[in-house]
Amino acid sequence: MPSSNKSREAILNLIDEETSNIIYELGSGWGNLAFALAKKCKNTQVIAYELSPVPYAFSKALHFIFRYKNLTLLRKDFFRKRLENNSTIVCYLYPKAMEKIRTILPTQHRLISNTFTLPQVLPSQEFHIEDLYSSTIFLYNQS
Ligand SMILES: C[S@@+](CC[C@H](N)C(=O)[O-])C[C@H]1O[C@@H](n2cnc3c(N)ncnc32)[C@H](O)[C@@H]1O
Repeated sequence: MPSSNKSREAILNLIDEETSNIIYELGSGWGNLAFALAKKCKNTQVIAYELSPVPYAFSKALHFIFRYKNLTLLRKDFFRKRLENNSTIVCYLYPKAMEKIRTILPTQHRLISNTFTLPQVLPSQEFHIEDLYSSTIFLYNQS
């Protein structure tokens, strides 16, 4: 299920378009958010991981049309990847994944999570979204 339009806007608002840090999207689904991130942050490398073949193939087809040079779509399990220090990480996952995600977070990071929290970590900020799902966006700053 993709992030709602309002959630996507809220996530984008938390990201400075001039950021030089790498942005990861963990579980990019159909690519809606990955494309929006790449469009907004033209000078930033956006790396999006997605395991499911159908949404991944759809996003690759869109990429063929849009061809954002700063966007890389990978059909990979992000749990097997090493994430760069000082990166921005965006996700919309599920509780079990949020437990496990802590094992791959670099020392310094900015994590923006739609709906699901990191267990036992207080978010720096949270934003309540007036959408169909009453989503909440959680921001974690670890420096
Ligand atoms: C709820 S969707 C969110 C899609 C998109 N991030 C958005 O906000 O619109 C979560 C996606 O994460 C993917 N996913 C879950 N675990 C994954 C993993 N370990 N590696 C790569 N993708 C994963 C799922 O296949 C699903 O498409």
